[in-house]
Order: sequence, then structure tokens, then C-alpha cells
Amino acid sequence: MTTITVLLLGLAMAAGQAGPGQVAPGRSGSEQNSQLSETVFKNVKVLKGIPVDEFMDTMGMFASSLGYDCSSCHSPEIRTNREAFAVETPLVQRARGMITMMNAINRNYFRGEPHVSCFTCHRGNYNPEIIPSLALQYGELKEDPNSTNIYPDRKVTADQVFERYFQALGGRDRLAGLTSFVATGTYSGFNTGGADVPVEIYARAPDQRTQIIHMDIGDGVKTYDGRNGWVAEEWRPVPLVRLTGGNLTGARLDAMISFPAGIQKSFSDWKVGSTVIDDRPVQILQGSNPGETPVNLYFDESGLLVRLVRWNKTTVGTVPTQIDYSEYREMASVKLPFRIVMTWTDGQNTFTFKEIRPNAVIGPEKFVQPAPFKRR
Ligand code: HEC
Ligand code: HEC
Repeated sequence: MTTITVLLLGLAMAAGQAGPGQVAPGRSGSEQNSQLSETVFKNVKVLKGIPVDEFMDTMGMFASSLGYDCSSCHSPEIRTNREAFAVETPLVQRARGMITMMNAINRNYFRGEPHVSCFTCHRGNYNPEIIPSLALQYGELKEDPNSTNIYPDRKVTADQVFERYFQALGGRDRLAGLTSFVATGTYSGFNTGGADVPVEIYARAPDQRTQIIHMDIGDGVKTYDGRNGWVAEEWRPVPLVRLTGGNLTGARLDAMISFPAGIQKSFSDWKVGSTVIDDRPVQILQGSNPGETPVNLYFDESGLLVRLVRWNKTTVGTVPTQIDYSEYREMASVKLPFRIVMTWTDGQNTFTFKEIRPNAVIGPEKFVQPAPFKRR
């Protein structure tokens, strides 16, 4: 993970040097519907016809599945020049062949359903094991708390878990009284090289959220306006990326989770299960809607939400995003998490808030489509 981090930082700096202008000729950053992989990138032969954000998630799938970082497959030049991602290398070619193989397996043996992904064989290893492991067979069984398969617990209902959560936060009435907030503090991530930089988050019930990261090279903005989501950050392949699919529903969830009363209604089915995170028992609520990837919410013994896991379906399989919430403090008689850590296949970001101002007046201009990223 550290290596990916360093590389992406290099990529970010390279992007800054090149200036914003990674969009194909004749198109402007605001023509968001033209954000398909083959129009934005130079040398796409297999992963065509997918949006840029999904394309980058396919790269996350590759890196995560093989235990590789970006430069394992791509030219070492990517450290200083982002254009070098288009350079053909033997492993890029090998990976293309693997995509074709995987698609053929799914088509011919699994009715075209995506049952086999890069991870199915690779499991974090560039050279998949062929011989069964006795250590695995006879060792202690370790379940992954982030699995989409949960073992249902029929003794508890979703309503009961939600009720306990609302109680732990301060009760339904007080929650209804929280309609907006402005959080300020620090952000650190792969794009800051792990250093803390100032961040502000504007949130308005039921589902609007804007996050502004103030970096020396410019402001990174992520907005969900209640319908659409965008990111304008220095390390993205285009200066303004429109979020799609699971990234869009995920941005909506990130906004809604601050005003949790609405979450329960936004999924048609809830399952209850239990698992263990860091040796502590947690209850899982899995919400699902037809045709969408589910969401897993994890509650600790006090009833507070400690983790959210959501997924994005890509053309090469589904990738996870995990968000951990901690350091709950009371604010306007409602508890909110003052520390949020977001982990996904391309990196990890930490938000630590110093102050959260409840029911702050926030103008509608905070939740509009952000301007494309611009270097200061
Ligand atoms: C397992 C090998 C592999 C890894 C690891 C990998 N990629 Fe790729 N990358 C590819 C392949 C294959 C393509 C070409 C896809 C195609 O032709 O459809 C590609 C294409 C790209 C492109 C498009 C370049 C262009 O202009 O045509 C970008 C950008 C990119 N990768 C970024 C990344 C980033 C960022 C990472 C690290 C998170 C990464 N890749 C990790 C295999 C890899
Ligand atoms: C059905 C199992 C299977 C699936 C699915 C699979 N691979 Fe592989 N892959 C292998 C095996 C086995 C090897 C090693 C054998 C070899 O080197 O010929 C390998 C090797 C590779 C290598 C070469 C690694 C190196 O450093 O030499 C790359 C790159 C790769 N796979 C990428 C992918 C990507 C990307 C996906 C998903 C699109 C994928 N694979 C899906 C079985 C699989």
C-alpha cells in the first residue's frame, strides 16, 4: 500500500506539472458525458466504453488482486510523466490477455455473470498458488468482516439495530434537529504524502455533502448535490471526474450517513448479521436495493456505527471501499464521529475534525458542480 501511495503521489505531481488538460482534444472538462475511457486515455484496447471513474477502479482491482502497485505493470516513467501510463509493457499486454480469459470463463461457464474476477485466482499474489495449503486447511478460520455474504442473525431485527444506533447518537428527536453542519480539521492521504492539510466538510440533510481539501498545489473538491457527484482533485486522470455507478451511490451514502435517519428508508431490504472487527464483536446491517451493490453497516457494543463498507461494480469485478468511524463526541446533543478513515483499492485517507458546527447556515452554492481542478 505504501508503494502505491508513493507512486500515486508521483503521479499527482506529474499531473500538476502537465497542468489540467488531460482531456481528449476537442472536448472540455465540463462535457462530462464524453468521459469514456477510450476518449480520455490514449492506449485502451480492452476496457473500452466505461466511464473514467470505473476505469480507475479496474486499475485498483488489478493492483489489489495481484499485490502490485501501478508501476509493477506500467512503465517506471509514470513516476514523472502521467502520459507514460499509455506505454505498452509486457505486463500490460499480459493483463489484457487475462481480461479476455476472465471474460471467456464467465461467458462460457457462468452464464455471463461475473463470478470470476482477477482476485478469484490471484488473491493478492501475482503468481497464483496451484497446490493446496495445509496451513490454510488446518489453520484457524479467519472470516473477512467485509464480505458481502453475511450469516443472518434471526434473533435481532434491523429495526432494533437502527433503534439502538439512534439511541446511542442521542435519540430520534435530537437527530431530527440536526439539519446541517460544517466540520473543519485535517486530512491526510497518499496525495499529501501522509502530511496533514486543512479540510472542510459542508453537509446538509438529507443527502448533500461537499469536502474541500486545501493543498499547496490547489484545492481538491468532492461534491454530492443530492443527485450528482463530482471530484476535482489533482491526482485524478481528468481535472473534473463525474461519479458513476457504485461511486455515485457511495457518495450519496457518505452524505446520508451524517443524517442517519434517512438511511433505513433508502434500502428496500435489510439483513442482520454479526462478525468481529479488531477482536471486538459487531453487528452488521446489510442494506440492498434491486440491481445495486449492497452496503454493510457495522455497529459496536454501544450501538454506534464503526464501519461502512460499500462496493463498486466494474467490468473486471467488484471493488470495495471501507469507511471507519471513531472518536464520537457530542455536539448539539447528538454524537458525531470526529475521525473518519477511508480505505479503498487505490489508497487510504484520514479525516480528523477539530470542530463541527451544528446547524450552520450553508449557502446552496456549496453544493454545485465544482470547477475543474486548477493548480494554484
Ligand atoms: C496488472 C497490471 C496493471 C496494474 C497493476 C495497473 N495497470 Fe493500469 N493498465 C493496465 C492495462 C492492461 C491497461 C490497458 C487497458 C486496455 O487496454 O484496455 C492499463 C491502462 C492504464 C491507464 C490508461 C493509459 C492510457 O492513456 O491509455 C491508466 C491511466 C492506468 N492504467 C493507470 C493505472 C494506475 C493509476 C494504477 C495503480 C493504481 C494501474 N494503472 C495499475 C494494467 C495495469
Ligand atoms: C483463472 C485464473 C486467473 C484469473 C481469473 C486471472 N489470472 Fe492472472 N494469472 C493466472 C495465473 C495462473 C498466472 C501465472 C501463470 C503464468 O505466469 O503464466 C497469472 C499471471 C498473471 C500476470 C503475470 C504476473 C507476472 O508478474 O508475471 C498478470 C499481469 C495477470 N495474471 C493479471 C491478471 C488480471 C489483471 C486479471 C483479471 C482481469 C487476472 N490476471 C485474472 C491466473 C488467473
